[in-house]
Amino acid sequence: MQSLQDPSTSTLTIGGDLPVGRLGFGAMRLTGNPARVDRATAVAIARRAVELGVTFIDTADSYDLGTNEELLAEALYPYPGEVVVATKGGQINLGSRWIPLGRPEYLRQQAELSLRRLRLDRIDLYQLHRIDPAVPIADQVGALRQLQDEGKVRHVGLSQVTVDQLRQAEQITPIVSVQNRYNLADRAGEDVLEYCRGRGIAFIPWLPVAPMTRGGASDAITAVAARLHATPTQIALAWLLHHSPVMLPIPGTSSRAHLEENVAAARLSLSPGDVEQLTAG
Ligand SMILES: NC(=O)c1ccc[n+]([C@@H]2O[C@H](COP(=O)([O-])OP(=O)(O)OC[C@H]3O[C@@H](n4cnc5c(N)ncnc54)[C@H](OP(=O)(O)O)[C@@H]3O)[C@@H](O)[C@H]2O)c1
Repeated sequence: MQSLQDPSTSTLTIGGDLPVGRLGFGAMRLTGNPARVDRATAVAIARRAVELGVTFIDTADSYDLGTNEELLAEALYPYPGEVVVATKGGQINLGSRWIPLGRPEYLRQQAELSLRRLRLDRIDLYQLHRIDPAVPIADQVGALRQLQDEGKVRHVGLSQVTVDQLRQAEQITPIVSVQNRYNLADRAGEDVLEYCRGRGIAFIPWLPVAPMTRGGASDAITAVAARLHATPTQIALAWLLHHSPVMLPIPGTSSRAHLEENVAAARLSLSPGDVEQLTAG
């Protein structure tokens, strides 16, 4: 088992040696072109996340061309010992298009740039943002394995993968996390989640709440939210945390109020009946 949930402390230990709180923070929406908030506000939100006890923060080299990583360093460096900043490489963003780029030399360059921007000697969790179909998986994961061997990357994760791709990657190096799109309304990746649960691999669902905001909540979510005096977003997050012990959601926001609301969701206790109703509905 590479990662285990400790129910008494609500932590998940990634890769056997990185304990993090089970509700993380996705930093993507703190920067952008155009930015949703000014830099000072974005810095304050990142700091507030840590103040509220968040210890797992997700970013990527491609979020606003590295600006997102720089912002996290500005906000949080020197990082408190318990904080894990996980980053990703292997995909570029051209406006509305995202293109996988998995050539080993490119991955190496991007990891070096992430180290520089994050002001780290070693990245605790480096995730391959996408599998590039034009490059053998063994070469892509092999580049990350080499970075591990050199001490520049501690653990390797994947993003948006199938069980088969995950198995292939595991032949090269231990895979400690998978970041796939997954939420209460979109459970297409259930087989990957099950595989991760069986192997003790942290499952990091992206887009954990967006479908439930802006009036998209199902009747079941609305009913449970009303009963628990919570918001639909909080119920969606609580359901994820109850659904699997390897779940590590990373809701993203550029709003301090939404951040506080999301973090509070980790304390919500759902009854087995609530979970059943939400899962069915
Ligand atoms: N691996 C990948 O391929 C991949 C892809 C996409 C994202 N990600 C990662 O996953 C993280 C989360 O994904 P995401 O940001 O796309 O989706 P998300 O967290 O499900 O949703 C974020 C959206 O929901 C809104 N929101 C958040 N909390 C809210 C609340 N309490 N009430 C109402 N609205 C709320 C945010 O708007 P406000 O700013 O107004 O709160 C934002 O528009 C990202 O930050 C990024 O780190 C990874």
